[in-house]
Amino acid sequence: MLDTLGELERTHTCGELRIGDVGQKVVLMGWVAKKRDFGPLTFIDLRDRDGITQVVLNEADTSGAHAKAKGLRGEFVIAVKGKTVEREGTHNPKLATGDIEVHADEILILNEAKVPPFQLEVAGNENLADESARLKYRYLDLRRAEMQNNIRTRAKVVTAIREYMDGAGFTEIETPILLKSTPEGARDFIVPSRIHAGKFFALPQSPQILKQLTMIAGFDKYYQIARCFRDEDLRADRQPEFTQLDVEMSFTNREQVYRLMQGTFNHVYKKFDIELPEAWPRMTHAEAIRRYGSDKPDLRFEMELIDLSGDLADTDFGPFAEALKANGTIKCIVVKGRADYSRKQTDELQEFVKRYGAGALAWIKLGDETTSSLLKVLGEEKIAQLAATAAAEKGDAVLIVAGRKSVVAASLGALRLEVAKRENLIPENVYKPLIVTEFPLFEYNDAEDHYDAAHHPFTAPMDEDLEQFREAVEGDKRELLGGVRAKAYDAVINGIEVAGGSIRIHQRDVQALNFKAIGLTQEKARERFGFFLEALEYGTPPHGGFAAGIERTLMALLHNDNIRDLIAFPKTASAQDLMMDSPGEVDEAQLKELGIKTFTRETRSIH
Ligand code: AMO
Repeated sequence: MLDTLGELERTHTCGELRIGDVGQKVVLMGWVAKKRDFGPLTFIDLRDRDGITQVVLNEADTSGAHAKAKGLRGEFVIAVKGKTVEREGTHNPKLATGDIEVHADEILILNEAKVPPFQLEVAGNENLADESARLKYRYLDLRRAEMQNNIRTRAKVVTAIREYMDGAGFTEIETPILLKSTPEGARDFIVPSRIHAGKFFALPQSPQILKQLTMIAGFDKYYQIARCFRDEDLRADRQPEFTQLDVEMSFTNREQVYRLMQGTFNHVYKKFDIELPEAWPRMTHAEAIRRYGSDKPDLRFEMELIDLSGDLADTDFGPFAEALKANGTIKCIVVKGRADYSRKQTDELQEFVKRYGAGALAWIKLGDETTSSLLKVLGEEKIAQLAATAAAEKGDAVLIVAGRKSVVAASLGALRLEVAKRENLIPENVYKPLIVTEFPLFEYNDAEDHYDAAHHPFTAPMDEDLEQFREAVEGDKRELLGGVRAKAYDAVINGIEVAGGSIRIHQRDVQALNFKAIGLTQEKARERFGFFLEALEYGTPPHGGFAAGIERTLMALLHNDNIRDLIAFPKTASAQDLMMDSPGEVDEAQLKELGIKTFTRETRSIH
């Protein structure tokens, strides 16, 4: 009887055996996923990373092993020795190994397991345990087939990337993690220096400056699978710590970078039998905002934004007239076949757009009778005209927002996605890639009344807009900055921004203009990027590149909208690691050594 592991070797994984293996003597090892006792017969679903095999213990054949199996519970680790047999009666088409089972005559318990805090074997996502429990016991959650698939798919994606980059002549270069602040627009994570007490490193928000330095250093084609750290407000598609494929090349232009970006994604997706078009569709940033209200439009469905401003140019309805007077806009989307929206539903949609700053949501319903929240103020004729402009047909609903251009775009763009989800308009297993071009160089920061770099401050303006850029900065006409376009681009798949990049500034004087535009004094620029500005003066080749989010690439590939599912050990939405319980406190002595004093934020209640 098997009572020690000894030199016992497994012959197959739990996902491997097929009908052709019938008759083979095998040794399997794995976790007890399920156990069912039927008197003299005990059935075990034995699981490892490859799948599940049904193991049967028959009291008549193996009284010892059968008795031992009685003591097994879920997640015990066992080894079984036995014979592959064709299943009697119905085979299980859901299992790759469903034609066979293993009749075990020996069983060895390799390790016992406590009762897991949540059920691991669940069918579908509905019965999934609460995410915080899954994060706390991540090593258990990772045993689930879906998570195994996610993490292994991730590895396959990275392998495919390396294969492609290597084939295209790129050199993988590692850059430091202990760095100085890098300019991606988020807050830095900082690391205190013990040797230089009172001084700090910053973790890279991306290797942006370093990859540009590799160009100045003559490497020509650089790439890295790079970890990035950004202390920013988290969303479902963001993590404080994430991974990029980071790429840079010299003597290049936008077209070449687009080809490389497409080529990389196409190569990766092909590994999963997904054919993306060789040349992806393109759209300028302005067109994306105009038609979809988003710089990362989801092209799997239509429902474009339609401009109603022309029809309402002479309206005296207050909110509309005010919006137009303030250079705003009035736009709508048409929801096919939903003239039957209830009051409650339109109210809900109104609440939804309000979250994006919209004042209200007006509607027209083309039912048997036309009804509208605007009927009283605009009259039947105008309503009919608006419906015609929107190309709405009988049975449709028209949803309208008026206000500042940015608010109308953001709220209708988000509503377009929300309605598509609610109405099931998004086809499954479809991939719609897009390259968005000509992003603005600057973004107006309302709260602080100044312009920020829209991408990062090393991004080159478009040649056509260089004059306007000079005039804006040198002629002190700040308002012109908003119209300057950049040689910046994003790659988007199914509405997910999977990559972003730009052609960089390689002349020192243009770089100086850029810093000035964002209000970075020469002094400050020198203090932050002096080493880099100096490097630009030693013969910098024209260069550009991109960075692709590995997790985002997987989100699009696997149609998974939870970024945490694609990282083995992620942080929560509030930037904590529930398994390790970090961030945590450090010893007083350690702080002292670092020359750091901490204080707790006092919360004062007002009486
Ligand atoms: P950018 O900031 O656009 O560009 O980032 C590139 C890509 O990285 C992914 N990404 C993220 N993924 C998860 N969590 C986050 N917090 C997060 N932030 C970004 C996105 C994004 O498109 N240095 C430039 C690239 C360049 O110009 O070459 C940069 O980092 O998929």
